[in-house]
Amino acid sequence: MKFFIDTADLNEIKEAAALGILDGVTTNPSLMAKVGISGEANIKKHYVDICNIVDGDISAEVISTDFEGIIKEGKELAALHENIVVKVPMIKEGIKAIRWFTDNGIRTNCTLVFSAGQAILAAKAGASYLSPFIGRIDDSNWDGVQLIEQIVHIYSNYGYETEVLAASIRNPMHIVRCAEAGADVVTCPLSSIMGLFKHPLTDIGLAQFLADHKKANG
Ligand code: E4P
Repeated sequence: MKFFIDTADLNEIKEAAALGILDGVTTNPSLMAKVGISGEANIKKHYVDICNIVDGDISAEVISTDFEGIIKEGKELAALHENIVVKVPMIKEGIKAIRWFTDNGIRTNCTLVFSAGQAILAAKAGASYLSPFIGRIDDSNWDGVQLIEQIVHIYSNYGYETEVLAASIRNPMHIVRCAEAGADVVTCPLSSIMGLFKHPLTDIGLAQFLADHKKANG
């Protein structure tokens, strides 16, 4: 399973990259706004900065919602760096654009996915990645990981090559449950990645080892 970090914060990206387990980055317009990046030139520069930190797929989201606009923006984003994946919303114009990008060699991440039906449409259009938002589904009292299981099952029935990228991860258990469900990728906040390290028995055991070593070696 690939690990992406879901942030536009360069310090967080560097911290996760330093662990040596990072395969890519996802961003969205809210995450870019959160770190104060605005204006077309600054946004594009920020994507290039991210590409220079992580050698892996970097999702850059379009703002347009009409076919022509999505194509224009997506072409510009894809031209920034070979690792850019154009993130396109799951709407009618988005699916048409994903088909166009697929036919023209531009990789895509279909975002804002909340149902298996939407996942089928994105796979049919040739999306490289599919982003079901599991945390937002949980927030509305449904089971987000169950949707990942359903989509993984459907994709394997037909050999669809679209990679299931579990998004809107809220905690370390989401990551573990997505791995059990067969997600190809998880994109997580830094806090959820760091949460995977935690186990009290590891801390207790390490303290004991170090104390015993000190006792024996002075
Ligand atoms: C990922 O591609 C999405 O941008 C992100 O995971 C959404 O997460 P949120 O529901 O925590 O905003």
